[in-house]
This record gives sequence, C-alpha cells and structure tokens, in this order.
Amino acid sequence: MIKVSDAHVLRDVSYASYAKEVATINEGIRSRSLEGSDYLGWADYPNTYDKEEFARIEKAAAYIRENFEVLVVCGIGGSYLGARAAIDGIQGLYRKDKLEILFMGQTFAPSYVSQVLDYLKDKKFAINVISKSGTTTETAVAFRLLSELLKSQIGAENMKKAIFATTDASKGALLELCKKYGYERFVLPSDIGGRYSVFTAVGLLPMAAAGIDIAAFMDGARNAMLSFDSDEINEAYKYGILRHELYKAGYPVEMFVTYEPRFVQLGEWWKQLFGESEGKDHTGLLPDSATFTTDLHSLGQFIQQGSPVLFETVLSVESPERDVIIPHDEDNLDGLNYLEGKGLDFVAKKAHDGTVEAHAGGNVPNVLLSIDKMDAFTMGELMMFFCRACALSCYLNKVNPFNQPGVEIYKKNMFRLLGKPGYEK
Ligand code: PA5
Repeated sequence: MIKVSDAHVLRDVSYASYAKEVATINEGIRSRSLEGSDYLGWADYPNTYDKEEFARIEKAAAYIRENFEVLVVCGIGGSYLGARAAIDGIQGLYRKDKLEILFMGQTFAPSYVSQVLDYLKDKKFAINVISKSGTTTETAVAFRLLSELLKSQIGAENMKKAIFATTDASKGALLELCKKYGYERFVLPSDIGGRYSVFTAVGLLPMAAAGIDIAAFMDGARNAMLSFDSDEINEAYKYGILRHELYKAGYPVEMFVTYEPRFVQLGEWWKQLFGESEGKDHTGLLPDSATFTTDLHSLGQFIQQGSPVLFETVLSVESPERDVIIPHDEDNLDGLNYLEGKGLDFVAKKAHDGTVEAHAGGNVPNVLLSIDKMDAFTMGELMMFFCRACALSCYLNKVNPFNQPGVEIYKKNMFRLLGKPGYEK
C-alpha cells in the first residue's frame, strides 16, 4: 500500500481542520454532484468496467503479440502518457520482449516522425490509434502516415487486421473511420477524460500487448479505489491536503522526484494529470519532475539553494525487484571497498535519506511517498491514488478537475495559421 509521510514538510498540518471539507468532497465524488461530475467515471471504473471488452482487449493483445514485431501506439496527452508510464514503470527501459512498443502521434516533429516511419519500413507492425475526440491533429496526421505505410506493406484488406482503435463510445471522427473500414474498436467511456483514462482500453491495450498482467493492474486500481473512496482522511487525501497546505504556504511549484529512471514517464503522466487538472483560473501548483540521483547533479543545486519556490514530493520503492552487489577489488584504487558486498539499493536509500536531510535542512519541504514494489498491481494502485489526490486537490482549490479550456487556445491559433476551413479568423 502507498504510504505518505509528512515528517519533512517543515510545519504542523492540521488534518482535522480539513475533515469536514474532505468528507463533503468525497461524498460529492461518490454522488456525482460536484462541478465536472460528468467526468467522474474513472472513480469507480475498476468495478464498473465492461468485462466483455476487457476479455477482448486481452484477446487482441495476444493476437498482436503473436503476429507482429512492433505495436505503434498513436495518441497524445491522456491518450498515451498513462500506457507509456505503466509500461516503463512495470517493465523497465530495456525490455527483452518480442513485441516492441513505439509511440507516435504525440508530436509534429518531422525528424521524429520520419525516423519512426523509416524504422517501421521493414517491420511487421500493428497500430493502436487512440483518440477520444478523433480530431486531434497530431494523432490524426500520424495515423494517416502510419496507415499509408501499412497499406503499402500489406494491402488494404490485411491492414484491417493490424489496426486497433480506441475511441469515444458514441462520437468522433475516429469512430466513423472504424465503422467505415471495420477496424476493431475499444471504448474510452464518455464519462472519463483522457488524463484519467489509463484504467480503460486507452491504457490497458498497450499494456496487455506489452505483456503486462492487466488483471493485476486493475486489481491494484480497485484496491486503491476501495481504500480512498472514504470520507476519512486516507493516504490519497493526506497527500492532497499536504500539497494544498504547501501551495497556501507560498510554494507555487511541486517537484515530483523518484530515484528510478524507469519512472521518468510516470513523472510525465503525473505532470499532465496535475497540471491539466489544476492549472486554471490563475491558480494551481506548477508540476515539475526530476530523477535522482541523476538530477542532483543538475537541478540539485537549485533545489538546495536557488529561489525558494518549490517543495518536493519524493516517491521511493521499498523493495526493488533486483539488486546489484558491489564487488571487492584487490587494488581498491577507486576507494570503494568500504561498500563491497553492499547492494546498490542500500546505497540508493542512503542517497535518498541524505538528500531529504539536505533539502529539508535547507528549508525545502519534502512530502515522502513510498510503495512496496514496481509491479502491475502497485502501478494500478499508485495511478488511482494520484487520480483521487488530484481530484481532491482541485476541489480544495475550487477548480473543475476535468476540463482543460486553456488547451483549446493554441489549437485555434494553429488551425487559423494552417488555414483549416472554419478557422480563417
Ligand atoms: O487529458 C486530456 O483530456 C487530453 O490530454 C487528451 O487526452 C489529449 O488532448 C488527446 O485528446 P484525444 O484523445 O481527443 O485525441
């Protein structure tokens, strides 16, 4: 289970003073009576999800693993970050799996897109195109390019068996495309927004194709759902309160820190979840992320002695699945024999403790989160923990967690500049 410690937040936090507000918000989430409640489908999704579709996801994943070398996940924002974070987090960065997972549709950069297309030229690949709206330009352009390549490789008929789409239940351009060409389709329910969608086919199909036990992932999410849907101040709400208190105390930036390179993408997902949910009406914490100890050799200086704008939320893993023992060396010219026989996990934990002591000692508050391990169950639990904490944080700040009105502005400008019909001025 996820643990939250306030031992280094450098102030006394009165959780009791939040009791009434938390109970009201939790009840509002449960009864779907708060602003944005049309998008609260994720909150009980580990119970309500479509079991028939879940079985279809597992079947499609097995088919993809059996018949292809590469799966290209084509989506942006909430339509790919969760899957990417979960795959890296659970399986690590150098997966030795027969199915490679690539990502496209998250950028217009021609250098990236052309490299992926080149790479796919002599590969047997399938596509999982994911878009709720079906009109997101990055994703739509990438999908057009990918399907053109696929068609040239295997022909229009076979292509149908290599494209898997995840769309809104009842609307959107991608849905129409699926109907016309007969692609297998999975659903992102209408009451779940992109950044809360990792528990749906959006996250589950890429994860299952990567060989992850998605039933365990959903069990973890369900466990968190049961633990954190309570009027009490549970661990998710404790975290939400701590970040709210630190925001009110004058820290506008929250830096999400891990000691695991495989959690870099988790940081990206976390930034989107909190940034897009909370950053509106000119309020909210700016979410940033860092990976230690790597970033102690870059951002560490700023954190320790730069402008006092941030607090850290540090996630640590109690038992990594493997350890590496430092060997004895006869010459000991590097002076490391004092560590011989010790595991890297021991060293990493000392680095963690020393860093918390240094940063908190330098007046940088540290919220400490810990999880037992990095498996599918824990990842499901952790992602649901963050979703709950995020909803609470937003409601404490009196903003709707589930819209993103600001994102539309760049799109409108871009469409005008591109000459998209209907956006001339
Ligand atoms: O969280 C969100 O709602 C967004 O990040 C969307 O997921 C993102 O903009 C992609 O949208 P769509 O799935 O409609 O292509």
